[in-house]
Amino acid sequence: MNPSAITKYRPFPAVDLPDRQWPDRTIDRAPIWCSVDLRDGNQALPQPMSIQEKLEFFDLLCRIGFKQIEIGFPSAADTEFNFCRRLIEDDLIPDDVTIQILVQTREHLIRRSFEAIRGARRAIVHIYNSTSPLQRRVTFGDATREEIRDIAVAGAELVRELVPTIPDTEVVLQYSPESFSDTELDFALECCNAVIGVWQPTPDKRMIINLPDTVQWTTPNVHADQIEWMCRHLDRRECIDVSLHTHNDRGTGTAATELGLMAGADRVEGTLFGNGERTGNLDIVNVALNMNSHGIPTGLDFSDLPSIRAVYERVTRMSVAERQPYAGELVFTAFSGSHQDAIKKGLDRRQKEIREAAGDASPAWGVPYLTIDPQDIGRSYEAIIRINSQSGKGGVAYVLDREHGFDLPKTMHPQVGKRIYDLADAQGRELDADEIRDAFHRFFTNVDRPLGVSDYELVHHTSEKGRVDCTATIVIDGEERRVEGLGNGPINAFVHALENAGLKDVKVTDYRSHALHGGSGSDAAAYVQLQHDDGRILWGCGIDPSIEMAGLKALVTAWNLLR
Ligand code: KIV
Ligand code: ZN
Repeated sequence: MNPSAITKYRPFPAVDLPDRQWPDRTIDRAPIWCSVDLRDGNQALPQPMSIQEKLEFFDLLCRIGFKQIEIGFPSAADTEFNFCRRLIEDDLIPDDVTIQILVQTREHLIRRSFEAIRGARRAIVHIYNSTSPLQRRVTFGDATREEIRDIAVAGAELVRELVPTIPDTEVVLQYSPESFSDTELDFALECCNAVIGVWQPTPDKRMIINLPDTVQWTTPNVHADQIEWMCRHLDRRECIDVSLHTHNDRGTGTAATELGLMAGADRVEGTLFGNGERTGNLDIVNVALNMNSHGIPTGLDFSDLPSIRAVYERVTRMSVAERQPYAGELVFTAFSGSHQDAIKKGLDRRQKEIREAAGDASPAWGVPYLTIDPQDIGRSYEAIIRINSQSGKGGVAYVLDREHGFDLPKTMHPQVGKRIYDLADAQGRELDADEIRDAFHRFFTNVDRPLGVSDYELVHHTSEKGRVDCTATIVIDGEERRVEGLGNGPINAFVHALENAGLKDVKVTDYRSHALHGGSGSDAAAYVQLQHDDGRILWGCGIDPSIEMAGLKALVTAWNLLR
């Protein structure tokens, strides 16, 4: 920002709360969750949802596990009213779910809202009026504090009067001093206590005081101070669920909510993926999964986050950013080689720990760079490692292992990694798992020129322990030859056969093999490392249904790569 522009902004006042308690608290249980996707989220959409789309979203929210869902502002528009009636008349609200409707503290709107919820088993009537000095001055034309408080009281009284007119509906009452975040705390308290005085909640008939961070003007610690201060001063605190409703103007919706919970709040309003006015509402997925990552159950099921995201993106026509916590396309992807290496090590060690725990309590999660196991929210490991020219050697080996069943010897990783990164670099783009496999096949597997092997026969000399006679047909520079050699294993015998045919300049320095999982299912993979007389050392890989032939092909591959 231009320095001369900055002069028009002012610091935000701190809260005088020297004995604040929240910094020493930790979050150890989940709040009551309330989704406001169908109201705050919907009203912020360039193209609001149709009734059909809202129905689908409502069903999604119920399946996730929300027990309180703000379904709209029925007095504001016919679609909103009709949606509310549809849910009630078609009996679409599960028994354990309470719908919530929002209404301004204006008489005709409150009356219309009660018509909308008639017949519901249980409903939260949420009234609000704006209380901040800025709103009082600008929006309400210099209204006084008393005038604003009286608006809240009049609304609360009308609601109290209307509750008995819908006796079949259990009505839960909620009040929000909208723009709480920049309201003087003593005035926010005055409005809330005035409404509490009208509604007279009891421990059996609780009400909700929602304290909206309507616009984030300041840092999350100040929000937490505001919440703790209110929790200490509200009348009948034991009969009240204090609710948070953060937005994200400063990008701190999640932080403000978490600190607000530490400050004593009982309930959280927010939306999936943080959809909402301007920079959005609180992202409930974010906060709930943060809690899960600390071992706290939330009652919300995000175990198939990709499907939830797909419904969300379809019906809202919004998109989830690639770096969005937990849900973004790239958040479980590591391009950097050192990260890939550490993740691979962490995942391997975890497998080992699980085997060692053998059915005992789940070992603590501890994989570098991954705060949670992506599989727990329906993300696959497939996406974890992606290869571009910035990646390191471990990543390629990881993909070949996880995706295609190749357990490459450690000392082969640099050789393969370099070749494949060079390819990514040359193509100037990322390579996917199948392209990596194809490149591995092309460069390192069953390479049969200039030398090839077409068949072989092994005779094991049982009298001489481990001695093997190898007779093979090789093709060298297009010419077929029969070769024979004796050794202490098939590979060694074949090397001697090659030496007998005059191909003498290499020696075997390492070897390993394994059954290939995935793919055809019946193949074996073998890896042979050869050292050339000039000092160069290279690995080759062979794949064949016969493990012995796989070994010979691996040797031939390494031999060819050394040419
Ligand atoms: O952000 C806000 O203040 C609101 C209120 C109406 C609760 O959405
Ligand atoms: Zn809001």
